[in-house]
Amino acid sequence: MTTPTIAGIEQYPGIEGAHILSAEQFVVDELPVLFGQADELHGLFVEDRRELALRHVGRHLFNLFYEPSTRTRVSFGKAALNMGMGVEFTEDAKTFSSAAKGETLEDTVKVLGEEYGFDAIVLRYHEEGGAKRAARVSQVPIINAGDGAGEHPTQSLLDAYTIHQQHGRLDNLNVVMGGDLAKGRTVRSLAQLLAKFDGNKITFVSTPELQMSEDVLEVLRQHGVKYDETDEVVDALEGADVVYWTRLQKERHASDVAANDASFILDPDTIIKLPQHAQILHPLPRVDEISELLDSDPRAQYFRQAGNGLYLRMALLDNILAA
Ligand code: NCD
Repeated sequence: MTTPTIAGIEQYPGIEGAHILSAEQFVVDELPVLFGQADELHGLFVEDRRELALRHVGRHLFNLFYEPSTRTRVSFGKAALNMGMGVEFTEDAKTFSSAAKGETLEDTVKVLGEEYGFDAIVLRYHEEGGAKRAARVSQVPIINAGDGAGEHPTQSLLDAYTIHQQHGRLDNLNVVMGGDLAKGRTVRSLAQLLAKFDGNKITFVSTPELQMSEDVLEVLRQHGVKYDETDEVVDALEGADVVYWTRLQKERHASDVAANDASFILDPDTIIKLPQHAQILHPLPRVDEISELLDSDPRAQYFRQAGNGLYLRMALLDNILAA
């Protein structure tokens, strides 16, 4: 089998196929190509939806979700529909698929790809490593849409796309990441992606029990990325280019973990030192860690960021189907 060529994405070491499993796979120099494709597909969607809908007629996507999702599942589904693909899905697969009867992830994936002919499977799984397990047995591309507290690589791509739109670069940025860094898979993927670019500095803001895990810090050290850890929100935002905030991952902690206290809520008072050129991002869902008072601030870009996910995922599917 030849190495698949998805723009900006290398094959995952040791696993054949055009799978997207980890932010490790992203190739720094090629990401602008992928972003350009997302821009083009966005343009086509605006100009001529009917033409765009002829692009992948007869191809089919399966959304296999073992955990709740709004944006990731719907944007992949809509991306496929926009390009003429058919979409089938299992929502809450733990309950509504044969997983409830004890079937393994591997058996489910084999049938969907090999036997039923879906062209790609978007998989959200409740345990770390789920996407890699699926990819090892799958004849068709597996896209990791979040594996427990592991990674969420396509989210980090749309985050990077949004950062690139604002700053025109992904290097030499002062990035502040806050909230639940211990269990948030989006910050884990984004930190690893930003580590591949030169000159980025990351400030992690959280309570001590929600700090970034050692495995990601080790990746940052290997790439020579400068990072700090603090619980002082107001001061951390001084000089930031990008603020990336996240919710407490309640479902992944023991029930006694303390919720972030009020000092971790971004609101007009806590962002007083944030520069005007900065952007505030959040993967969503937001719970209460960003005040709605910030929604009208031009720096608050989390809804546009979610919108970018649609076009970036169109570009990903377009590439995967061509691989
Ligand atoms: C995130 C996720 O599922 O990891 N949501 C998303 O995909 N946009 C973030 C979260 O659930 O907090």
